[in-house]
Amino acid sequence: MLLYNDLFLDKKDVHISHEDRGYYFGDGVYEVFRIYNGQLFETEKHLQRLKRSCEEIQITLPYTMEEIDDKLLQLIQKSFVQEGTLYLQITRGIAPRSHIIPENMKPVVLAYCNEVKRPLDKMQSGIKAITQEDIRWLRCDIKSLNLLPNTLAKQNAVKHNVDETIFHRDGIITECSASNIMIVKNGEIHTHPVNHLILNGVTRAVVLKLATEAGFIIKEQSFDLNQLKSADEVFITGTTVEITPIISIDQQIVSNGKPGEITRELQKLYEKFVAG
Ligand code: PDD
Repeated sequence: MLLYNDLFLDKKDVHISHEDRGYYFGDGVYEVFRIYNGQLFETEKHLQRLKRSCEEIQITLPYTMEEIDDKLLQLIQKSFVQEGTLYLQITRGIAPRSHIIPENMKPVVLAYCNEVKRPLDKMQSGIKAITQEDIRWLRCDIKSLNLLPNTLAKQNAVKHNVDETIFHRDGIITECSASNIMIVKNGEIHTHPVNHLILNGVTRAVVLKLATEAGFIIKEQSFDLNQLKSADEVFITGTTVEITPIISIDQQIVSNGKPGEITRELQKLYEKFVAG
């Protein structure tokens, strides 16, 4: 079951135009929501980010946020997914290929749900990562469909038999191919500030809120490769990875090769928050 503009359609009945600008130019934006217990997680934050992404690239949505929210609820109900993700993308619309953006474009909305299990094993054991220069554009705050550098970075991780690639710009850690990153040093949590160099992660925001409420000191300040590799704990956050510890970077053990205490505590707080 897919949502395609105003219609709920069977997969086989969805026909994407070859002139969709999303196809030619990656001209569009997207969101990935978590579904826990048949319900969308942090819908408001995702929809606000979607709205912002659209505004930043001047896509005028044909629906209000309430209408989109309502459509997504209907989609989940029709899809019967209890645990998984919901993918939503909005492209600028359909027109003959031209770098110049035509006027009065009618955006194309596409959404569907997937059954996806939570990565409980990896959240428990931790994962390995590599680092790589961040070769993306300078508007990583926009959740754009242009994910070629991200997919190449993820593929590089696969090639090195690890789970994630951590990006740095001239040694300054930004985020990962599909997640944000935080380190713990002397009990304090450090993460890159929200600006044009990272995606303002929904999970990142939830984790920082929970950590603040639990009394942790948070430094939204950039840190470098040396600080990353000598951190007491390292973990990534994201809709699909939730809070996943990192135990090795560039084949070097970090966090004593096991998930750290503060990471564990944050995972517990997150678990409670999800359940609540
Ligand atoms: N990606 N940074 C990047 C580059 C991401 O692609 C993502 C998520 C995040 C984490 O954001 P959030 O906590 O809102 O999921 C950070 C999604 C899951 C994806 O592209 O599939």
